[in-house]
Amino acid sequence: MFTVKNIPMARSTKNMKIGILTAGGDCPGINAAIRGVGKTAITEYGMRVFGISSGFRGLIEKEYTEFDESQLSGILTLGGTILGTSRDKPFKNDPNVENKIPKIIRNNYQEMGLDALVVIGGNGSMKTAQKLYEEGLNVIGLPKTIDNDVWGTDVSFGFDSAVWIATEAIDRLHTTANSHKRTMVIELMGHHAGWISLYSGVAGGGDVILIPEIKYNIDIVTEYLIKRHQNKKPYSIVLVAEGIEKPKGMHAGTFIAQAIQDKTGFETRDTILGYIQRGGSPSPMDRILATRYGAHAVELIADGKFGVMVNLTGDQVTSVPLTEVYNKTKLVPRDHSLIDKARKLGICFGDKRV
Ligand code: F6P
Repeated sequence: MFTVKNIPMARSTKNMKIGILTAGGDCPGINAAIRGVGKTAITEYGMRVFGISSGFRGLIEKEYTEFDESQLSGILTLGGTILGTSRDKPFKNDPNVENKIPKIIRNNYQEMGLDALVVIGGNGSMKTAQKLYEEGLNVIGLPKTIDNDVWGTDVSFGFDSAVWIATEAIDRLHTTANSHKRTMVIELMGHHAGWISLYSGVAGGGDVILIPEIKYNIDIVTEYLIKRHQNKKPYSIVLVAEGIEKPKGMHAGTFIAQAIQDKTGFETRDTILGYIQRGGSPSPMDRILATRYGAHAVELIADGKFGVMVNLTGDQVTSVPLTEVYNKTKLVPRDHSLIDKARKLGICFGDKRV
């Protein structure tokens, strides 16, 4: 068991040293968040800001660089992360590793003279952030992921951009589907959650939306598509979240497309959108959200409030204890109001006959 005994901070914010790292899968908006943290810290509070490379690995290997304010200019619109990222988990289930790594990280944090550490990450990173807080580091979490599955916040930045990208892809599939009178299946990311598929499916006018949270029956899907054909709708768009039930080692989209073609005889094609959803420039909403999150993280540091994750509740950027966040996944509730509205429009979720 860890005892929480935080490493003391410098008394005034001036020259206080804060570290930032980005961990887990990248997403649009990370650089906007780094900029939000860095510019607020330097400009408003006179703090010093250190960028740590490649996620938690940089903290273990002491790879970091100090930012001056000018280095934070020109990155707002940039995709990816200027710090690099990794999926390294410093607290693996290996007793040898478990004993050594926390000590190394704690020593490095102290040797770097850090007063606080901002961890920009998703679910796994929030778990590590909590463990580092238990180790005595002054940690603030900042939720990022295209999957929107971080517990304790209405939205994570990266999600809006992914929905934009997916919606544009669906729009494009619509025109080619119509030309050839085909059924188009598109597989979208989201890990175990269906947020991207639900939102872009509704935004893109999808006909079928399959998400992990709603158990589907393929016969309900194919009967629905046949009925559309009979109703003079000779093409269809089927959204498939990557996390739905499917044979191991097979893409969900490919599996569903094959099943549709076999059962209906309709010419069916699948598209796996993949990493395109994570790349490139953030949407305006993600730029704003990431900037607000970044700035608020520094306000929390200035107030000496740690062991929390910055979050959005309604339109308020606030914070929530990491203990309430880690080890949980925010899935789409089956009674989500958007699902209810979509059903009323005649969209099929594969569970009930429409
Ligand atoms: O968490 C973001 C995400 O893009 C998921 O949607 C996807 O399942 C996963 O990451 C892909 O992970 P990796 O970057 O390890 O291939």
